[in-house]
Amino acid sequence: MGRIDRETVQKILDTADIVDVVSDFVTLKRRGANYIGLCPFHNERTPSFSVSKSKGICKCFSCGKGGSPVNFIMEHEKMSFNEALRYLAKKYNIEIKERELTDSEREEESDRENMFNVNEFALSHFENNLTNTEEGRDVGYSYFRERGINDAAIKRFRLGYSIERGNELLRQAGERGYNEKYLIDTGLVVRRDDGTMYDRFKGRVIYPVHTISGKVVAFGGRTLRSDKKMAKYVNSPESAIYSKSRELYGLYQAKRSISEKDKCILVEGYMDVISMSQSGIENVVASSGTSLTQGQIRLIHRFTSNVTLIYDSDPAGIKASLRGIDMLLAEGLNMKVVLLPDGDDPDSFAQSHSTTEVEEYIAAHETDFIRFKTDILLKDAANDPIARSKAISDIVRSISVIPDDIVRSLYVKECSRTLDIDEKVLLLQIKKFITERTEQQAQQNMRDKARASLDNPQETTAQGTGQTETPGFSGASPAETTGMNRGGSVHAPAGMAFIHSDRSRTALLAPFERDIARYIVRYGMVELPTIDDNDQPANIRVIDYIMQEFAFDNISFSNPIYNRLVEACRELIATDWESDRAAAEAQSLQQRDERWKTGTEEIRRTAVSLDQITQKEKMLIEAIDEEHYSRLDEHTERFFIRRLTSSPDDELRHEVTEMASSKHKLSKVHSKYAHVESERERLEELLPRAIYALKDAMLQCDIRRKRDQLKQISATGDMEAIKQIMIELSSLDNLRRDYAQKLGDRVVLPKG
Ligand code: CTP
Ligand code: MN
Repeated sequence: MGRIDRETVQKILDTADIVDVVSDFVTLKRRGANYIGLCPFHNERTPSFSVSKSKGICKCFSCGKGGSPVNFIMEHEKMSFNEALRYLAKKYNIEIKERELTDSEREEESDRENMFNVNEFALSHFENNLTNTEEGRDVGYSYFRERGINDAAIKRFRLGYSIERGNELLRQAGERGYNEKYLIDTGLVVRRDDGTMYDRFKGRVIYPVHTISGKVVAFGGRTLRSDKKMAKYVNSPESAIYSKSRELYGLYQAKRSISEKDKCILVEGYMDVISMSQSGIENVVASSGTSLTQGQIRLIHRFTSNVTLIYDSDPAGIKASLRGIDMLLAEGLNMKVVLLPDGDDPDSFAQSHSTTEVEEYIAAHETDFIRFKTDILLKDAANDPIARSKAISDIVRSISVIPDDIVRSLYVKECSRTLDIDEKVLLLQIKKFITERTEQQAQQNMRDKARASLDNPQETTAQGTGQTETPGFSGASPAETTGMNRGGSVHAPAGMAFIHSDRSRTALLAPFERDIARYIVRYGMVELPTIDDNDQPANIRVIDYIMQEFAFDNISFSNPIYNRLVEACRELIATDWESDRAAAEAQSLQQRDERWKTGTEEIRRTAVSLDQITQKEKMLIEAIDEEHYSRLDEHTERFFIRRLTSSPDDELRHEVTEMASSKHKLSKVHSKYAHVESERERLEELLPRAIYALKDAMLQCDIRRKRDQLKQISATGDMEAIKQIMIELSSLDNLRRDYAQKLGDRVVLPKG
């Protein structure tokens, strides 16, 4: 492949329209002057991906990715600049004028590009075989014909045939100068142990697998023999360009229709997709026989939130439809299921019915997934109470993964009716499942992080995610941690430049910032006693206290996620807190009244004297009051956690989830150091220290930057400037000494 000349490059850049380019991958909705959709670069449920037609750029406000049409294609398709230009040229029918490559340029072409090229060649080779060779026509083409596939569908899905004898693909690719290496890397050709090679797909009809942008990354080959010993399908192996779990068969052909109909039909096999599509129902994709992966679900979710599964009505088909579905629900997709008449699969059904019939059948038999699951499981468990309770638990678990509160509560209501179980009981069980999952997820996150930091300590520290320990004053203190870092970099001049990048600042501050953020998450609404402007006792919320301290020194978190955390908290306080609080209070008061009622009845029944009644009632009221207040305290403490663990901001949600569950660790540290008081009880003392520790760490960063400047300026011999920096440094050092005292002399200043 040659180089694109400058003029063509300019023409491509001028022609490419950002809305047009992005729309091939993301369903965009107009919002004011811009367009908006679900970001294709990270997992989200509410759109934050914005496209500006006039500016010609796109950007995700959550993860920050985006850019020009070329940037977008490069990022999204993992293409080089050159590849992205070619992609756009093809899209806009711009003829590429190119010159031949020099030898060295040829070597530069990436392996991936070569693999795509070889696949592209194989694709046209297989297509050509199907209609332009005798064997292809007699064997492959007539097979498709027998199965009712017409020419248009063959062309649309680019079906082909691989010649049985003589390793035709290998031979013809060789003639055209394609490198063997790429034939083997893509799996088109297999090398035996003895070094001889053969065509992987020989004697099979070919179903090419396209990426969402239409590049061929893999092939499926179906044998035409009924020989049971022969694998029915042979598929391309995973490779640098193909990851099975990230592709969905038919999505490239289906995406426009999915977006238009705002619905995606999910079937099992290649033939199901092709037959349905041929019959006019084009919004169909296949998971290719395996259960769906998260990545595939997200691919669908870019285009629609509505997914309908169509399965055979045999028990295996039904079972398959139940599997992996919680994952779709968890992703916020609206799930429907259609069961076909006995003995039909989507392929045979589409072949034997008209478009209207198929459409009408789907419309009439589409069942909401939860209802479907309920029907099936309860039918199986009709007279068996143990099986019934297991089934109910299974159904409730499915409901519990639905992220949308409103949708979830609708299902709870409905289930309460159909299962004849009190809504409250269902809600309680759901809450239990959610907590369970939150804890599991947090543990998983912790394990992942631990593993990541083992695999690559440098990388993870630089990103500020390496610390798996929550710093607290009872264990290794953040101040001590930093002290160690400081010692290291002072003695390593090469490390100085590293220290000054924003990233390393963020990494250095990470444990301190995280500590403060954790206080916000866990205790943000807790009130601490303080003194107001008129020297009167007053209360201040933890979050307000922290923000006030930040404002005082004009600082903010260097890690943007924590600033988002503060924003989210403020919004929750403004919108949800009061009503949430009132509801909790009312509920708790009701519980209190009930306890009082049953308690006094009990006392009256058992007491032997009036005195005893009075005394016992007094104890009772104290006990239930205390319970009431501790319920309210717990509500206060759980408020942010409760809300933020279902935040649409993925990063934030994960972070909060982890903070919410770091309790175990804390209690371990406490027992080790034999602390009796809880962190909650020591807040007044711990929080200010945590804030000073952060401020001190920030100061350290400033001091290091100044020292570095000093070193550079010393070389120039500019005495005035040197003096100026020395003065600044000394005032920073004084400030640190001040903090050190407040921190209880924990900070050791560097010598000299
Ligand atoms: N599949 C596979 N490898 C296999 C079997 C199945 O990759 N050995 C995948 C294919 O994507 C196939 C899907 O699973 O399309 C469903 O399998 P199956 O129902 O056996 O095949 P059909 O698509 O129904 O194929 P056909 O109708 O041609 O028999
Ligand atoms: Mn089939």
